[in-house]
Amino acid sequence: MNILMITSEAVPFSKSGGLADVVGALPPALIEKGHDARIVVPAYNMKIEDSGELVCKLDVPMLDGAEKVQIRMKTVRGVIYYFVCHKVFNDRIGIYGDTSFTPYSDNFFRFALMSKAALQLCEAIDFKPDVLHCHDWTAGLVPYFLKVNRSQFFMGTQTMFTIHNLAYQGTFPRMDFLHANIRPDEKLFSNGQVNMIQAALVYSDYITTVSPTYAKEIQTPEQGCGLDPILTKRHNKLKGIVNGIDINEWNPEKDELIPYHFSLKKMGGKAKLKKEIQTQLGLPVRADVPLFAMISRLAAQKGFDTVLNCLECILNEQDVQFVIVGTGDSALENSLKELAQKHENLSVNILFSNKVAHLVEAGSDFFLMPSRYEPCGLNQLYSLRYGTIPIAHRTGGLADTIIDVDKFPKEGTGLLFDDLTEYEIVKHVHRATELYKRKEGEDSIDKIRMRAMNQDFSWSASADEYINVYKKLTNRTTGETK
Ligand code: GLC
Repeated sequence: MNILMITSEAVPFSKSGGLADVVGALPPALIEKGHDARIVVPAYNMKIEDSGELVCKLDVPMLDGAEKVQIRMKTVRGVIYYFVCHKVFNDRIGIYGDTSFTPYSDNFFRFALMSKAALQLCEAIDFKPDVLHCHDWTAGLVPYFLKVNRSQFFMGTQTMFTIHNLAYQGTFPRMDFLHANIRPDEKLFSNGQVNMIQAALVYSDYITTVSPTYAKEIQTPEQGCGLDPILTKRHNKLKGIVNGIDINEWNPEKDELIPYHFSLKKMGGKAKLKKEIQTQLGLPVRADVPLFAMISRLAAQKGFDTVLNCLECILNEQDVQFVIVGTGDSALENSLKELAQKHENLSVNILFSNKVAHLVEAGSDFFLMPSRYEPCGLNQLYSLRYGTIPIAHRTGGLADTIIDVDKFPKEGTGLLFDDLTEYEIVKHVHRATELYKRKEGEDSIDKIRMRAMNQDFSWSASADEYINVYKKLTNRTTGETK
């Protein structure tokens, strides 16, 4: 099958979050299984001559005339990346904005241009996709374009849309829509604004999201972000598929970003890494104290406000260490930094570094993920792979990938709590400390670690699930289903 991914970010070229990891890792897994999978992504902050070999030049129609776009390509791990090159991408530092809080004012234009260019590219190079696999709001118009204006070329093409985070919808004024020279359709609007994710949810042939639990949650008013009526209506075309991880990059035996290695048979390296974290990140060097890690965007979605309300009490009353790594909301950043000045057992690192992330994932004892909601989450999967026991709110992908020790003492790989409250966080940090001290039994730390490290979250199984959906879709005779 020919699969074309359309996305606003993909590793190794651009990344603001987990979306980039997923789009970078799924195509190689599909290729390994005999399919042709390629990616269309804008070239950001890249000189045009650095964005690879020229594939074609396109005139993309917008209201004020045709925009000149170049498509260039690079091949990485056997995957072709087609770069959409245009000054609205090349001349910018950021993907969505110069900082994460101020989006570019022309984002509708930028991503409408990306979407139109992706379709024109297929015709220009005669690449007929069986499935156009679109990711998140930025590619939300593609299914709409295909539905309302399907050329002969795309007659056999189906569209699939993956929701990585329903809260980011891409809403813009009606005028933006007109400027991009797109035929108006009332189904794309809500509250007078065009909603790009809504366009995809209404018009794509199939919808997936990144875990089965999140697929259920987004059909409720509490977590549907206003779009639950559409999702509920389309529930038989909606499926949750858990993300995989790159098991070569995240490999305790070979990880190039950490100074010591370990495996189930030889765990010694993990203790050395813990010492390395304590030394590098300014914590008292102690082997006997449990080390809790958090690596995350510092935002309310990740439960940081709740953590802040109880962290001081935990540090005062329990003999534990905390290491926090991330950037985000400046009020949260400041409160955490202030707290770190008062407590030697708290290390706060306002930074985004892959190297530090690998070290902290690998050497910590526990990983706290109290996300308010979490479509899939990748950090708990990395933690499991390094025997760093996750403690998480039972939501979305966290509920699907962690087995609760207290419910299933013989199978458990982590701790899950039902309510995101200060009380539950304090209680579960305490519970983790008990497990940490336990040397024998099915729920001793070593046994839980062993089960965690034995879990398989490689892409292979998830890629098979995607392939099943692609097959189901393309076996149909026409694209007109609704
Ligand atoms: C988004 C979600 C996260 C998910 C990632 C990749 O960042 O918030 O839960 O793991 O996308 O799908």
